[in-house]
Amino acid sequence: MRTGASTGQPGNNLEVTPSILTADFCELGKTLDEASAAGINWFHMDVMDGNWVVNKTITFGPALIRSVRDRLGPEAFIDCHLMINNAEESWQQYVDAGADMVIAHIEAVDDFPKLIQDIHSAGAQAGCVMNPDTPAELVMPLLPNLDLVLVMSVVPGKGGQSFMPGVEGKVRSFRAAIDSQEESGGKSPILMIDGGIKDHNAATVSEWGIDIAVVGSGLINDKGTIAQNLQSIHSALGN
Ligand code: DX5
Ligand code: ZN
Repeated sequence: MRTGASTGQPGNNLEVTPSILTADFCELGKTLDEASAAGINWFHMDVMDGNWVVNKTITFGPALIRSVRDRLGPEAFIDCHLMINNAEESWQQYVDAGADMVIAHIEAVDDFPKLIQDIHSAGAQAGCVMNPDTPAELVMPLLPNLDLVLVMSVVPGKGGQSFMPGVEGKVRSFRAAIDSQEESGGKSPILMIDGGIKDHNAATVSEWGIDIAVVGSGLINDKGTIAQNLQSIHSALGN
């Protein structure tokens, strides 16, 4: 399933969505405008509650999602990556604030099938994300009803960490499972990776079968504009 997360190009069709964690939050509106102008339409919002992630970081809540939706307008696609303890109770606030998709951690949810149902009943899309050391087997049974599977290639908690190539086998097993599910007429969840993706490894994860890569510090940094950084990723992909 192709999404238009960034300027889809012929050739290698890995798409890119920015995580705004490394942005200057006092300049966030300008960063969002810059990303939109660079052709990006999918935005990845990393919600942390100061408790669930190992380094106990707090990032932002529904109020920022509301502001981001108001700035981007109705056409943009916003996912919320919930790194929080009470996702089953609080996910609706993010949908009400303007999120199109809720991506919750398999490690933090008791009844994932019910969560997917609830999110779908609210008219939003449901994703499941797992930590680097969480086996694919925990998520595979959810595939028939998911809109997205997110494989973490860093330990959740902050941007700018090093990529963990050990998740290759997990990504490839999801790619095979999703393709076979689609071939038998089932849903085709998007396969996403998140953490440490840069121009030097984008082609690698694309070859593994990733549809969309979340890129934070590789896109939003003081080395170049978002457009320049996006271009270097697309050039590395041969686009
Ligand atoms: C980490 C977040 C990621 C991170 C990606 O907890 O889920 O989305 O911000 O940032 P980079 O691309 O810099 O690793
Ligand atoms: Zn994330």
